[in-house]
Amino acid sequence: SPAELDVVRPVPTRHDRETGRDPMRVKIFDTTLRDGEQSPGCTMTAEEKLQVAKQLAKLGVDVIEAGFPIASTGDFDAVRRIAESVGNMENPPIICGLARALRKDIETCWNAVKYAAFPRIHTFIATSDIHMLHKLKKSREEVLGITREMVTYARSLCEDVEFSAEDALRSDPAFLYQVYSVAVEAGATTLNVPDTVGYTTPSEFKALIRGLRAHVKGVEGVTISVHGHDDLGMAVANFMAAIEGGARQVECTINGIGERAGNAALEEIVMALHVRKSFYNPRFGRAPEDEMALTNIQTTEIWKTSRLVSTLTGMVIQPNKAIVGANAFAHESGIHQDGILKNKSTYEIMDAESIGLAKNGLVLGKHSGRHAFRSRLTELGYEALSDAELNKAFVRFKEVADKKKEITNLDLESIVNEEMRLE
Ligand code: KIV
Ligand code: ZN
Repeated sequence: SPAELDVVRPVPTRHDRETGRDPMRVKIFDTTLRDGEQSPGCTMTAEEKLQVAKQLAKLGVDVIEAGFPIASTGDFDAVRRIAESVGNMENPPIICGLARALRKDIETCWNAVKYAAFPRIHTFIATSDIHMLHKLKKSREEVLGITREMVTYARSLCEDVEFSAEDALRSDPAFLYQVYSVAVEAGATTLNVPDTVGYTTPSEFKALIRGLRAHVKGVEGVTISVHGHDDLGMAVANFMAAIEGGARQVECTINGIGERAGNAALEEIVMALHVRKSFYNPRFGRAPEDEMALTNIQTTEIWKTSRLVSTLTGMVIQPNKAIVGANAFAHESGIHQDGILKNKSTYEIMDAESIGLAKNGLVLGKHSGRHAFRSRLTELGYEALSDAELNKAFVRFKEVADKKKEITNLDLESIVNEEMRLE
């Protein structure tokens, strides 16, 4: 039906205008350094968070959620350092911090993010009956009052305020529309809809986004965002449906790291929008054959970013993980290899090169010299390594090559990331 193709035309933000971003694209909000880092075993030092933030900026994310400043002085410092450096580079991303709907959280968050050229405060309160009854011990009226007061306070500090209704997908939709209407009236510029416990389905998510667009007062002037966890393995599918329903910001993490089963994986959403451009273009009011990208992501930076996050967090990527798993572009069976040799499109829907995974027959081993080593690293995107960094990595490469017959690109990336981490 024509309603399936209703097109959302977001109002350009100051960030869009001043960094030349097309407001029609889906904004990529990366929360690797907040929701991702929050998961067991993924803690990073301030130095490591800064290293990831620099790579996320290179990847082209629109927003970096750098941490939860009230959580610890370490996290406050990490968010502040990211705001000061990455938040002031050329065409910087928005630097965001998380805050509960509490005055001290919001104030602390602002004191960490305010150094960025484009700071954002992200404040949240739970709206499901389950959370309000058992966790907050607050009535609906009280939650509405806190939303109004805290969004107003956040907005008095910062022009860019995101409001999340925690556990939105298990909340009563009529109450949710009321809460979001109050948030918009109080000055929220982004309304985030979190599937906090990974409970929803694609059709439910799409219907709820449509519901917001129909019932929230002032919704046409703000960005609708989605946030989701992967408890039932549907986080990415849910986001794609939400985009069809009119969501124009997605909150995701590299390699899908995050609480419990993780968050929606950035690389999967971005590549789905990229590979299925002709399917999604009409939903953005474009012709199916339009070649313009639907996100601002430099897809060729995906592989490098994925390896960096895996090395720094110690979270191993399963070999069959979509897009960034070691086997994602490997063809083993005879029938598949035969097809690929005849025509790549038989079994490949995207090029390994499109995510920055160099395909190169040249095998590096213990006899390889510094020149071959440097040129492979350049192909992998490590062209900015200093001579000292290269020398250190080369020594380590020789040690590993003595023990292994072949050094893969994956080994090389681990070596370089490990050396950079030890700096
Ligand atoms: O999962 C969640 O609800 C969150 C919110 C704080 C956005 O992470
Ligand atoms: Zn979350």
